[in-house]
Amino acid sequence: MYKIGKEEIDAVAAVIEAGNLFKINSGLRESEHAEEEMREKFGVDHAILMTSGHAALTSALIALGIGPGDQVIVPAYTYISTALAVVGAGAIPVIAEADETLTISPADMEKKITKHTKAIMPVHIQGFPCNMDAIMEIAKKHNLYVVEDACQADGGTYNGKRLGTIGDAGAYSFNYFKVISCGEGGALLTNNRTVFERALIYHDSAAVAYFGNQLDGVESSLFCGTEYRTNEIAAAILRKQLVRLDDILANLRKVRDYFMTELKDLCKFIPSYDINGGCATTLAIRFDSAERTTKFMDDLKANDLGCTVPINTGKHIYSNWTPIINKVGALNPLMDPFKMEANKDIIPDYSVDMCPETLDLLARTAYVPLQPYWTEAEIAEKLDIIKKALA
Ligand SMILES: Cc1ncc(COP(=O)(O)O)c(C=O)c1O
Repeated sequence: MYKIGKEEIDAVAAVIEAGNLFKINSGLRESEHAEEEMREKFGVDHAILMTSGHAALTSALIALGIGPGDQVIVPAYTYISTALAVVGAGAIPVIAEADETLTISPADMEKKITKHTKAIMPVHIQGFPCNMDAIMEIAKKHNLYVVEDACQADGGTYNGKRLGTIGDAGAYSFNYFKVISCGEGGALLTNNRTVFERALIYHDSAAVAYFGNQLDGVESSLFCGTEYRTNEIAAAILRKQLVRLDDILANLRKVRDYFMTELKDLCKFIPSYDINGGCATTLAIRFDSAERTTKFMDDLKANDLGCTVPINTGKHIYSNWTPIINKVGALNPLMDPFKMEANKDIIPDYSVDMCPETLDLLARTAYVPLQPYWTEAEIAEKLDIIKKALA
């Protein structure tokens, strides 16, 4: 998390003093304001603040009617949460390769489309924007929904549009590791009124119980949902974080551009579908071999820059999605999408080496994590260390 302080402390104190922590209230109405401010900031018709990014992804899939009998294409390089949301909805994840940008390869994605495919989930991993023009075109051609996982890309843009607002629905995460944070939290963004209404019903069983006026104007029929409802403390923090967001992104991009200028004669960087719109939380260096990448990391060992090689980032890589590779979708077999009759002919042959291009690219990339408010001296010190390791 990049910046949190007095503004957030004061906002939380005000909520506690007001004494109403429930989302629906007639006092400070932090949750309601947070949703209004997200609509405005991200340029989208509907926003629902929820308990997590996973909650937002799941609600989006459910609201689109995705379930047993459907395949949903996810990238081989994303946090397991993306694929778990598909399984949670009762559908089957189909895994597609990443391309040079480490986002989903539109070409491989199109190859993986079958008559059972209902949706695709591009993931703006590490704040790197996906090729949304190509993805939207393929989706249109094959009549598929697009659910953008922008959980690692809060506020980033693609061709001037905020990530998460281009497809049928999108999700942000506000957990501790994200561009902005309210501890834990997430948001569903959509321009589709029906998706909004259904997600509202699904994510908050209190809405079904008719708490407050949440269902005013809602025409979609009620169905049993779950409980992903936010609270006033998280919302109060998030409102302050939303104010900080664009400054954080602008500073990150400035830091990244400076690093790229300083290092450009010493290494290659991964390409981007929209470098200016990317969140720039990470500088991604591309090496010619996995061995060279390892040597770079070894040379940095004595320093504490927090660099990583994405192949070593655990559940961000499909080959480590153990319950999915093993096709165990739930504890109770009757609830397990991998055992459901409706899915019996649509389950792919998962294997740990099924996406070799992604594995190769991840092993030849090193991440340098960036911070938006480093001083010039801090930047110079870090660049000096990196230059030595690249020499
Ligand atoms: C790509 C991606 N999708 C989904 C999620 C889920 O977000 P949350 O932890 O808020 O549920 C994360 C969280 O790390 C993520 O990185």
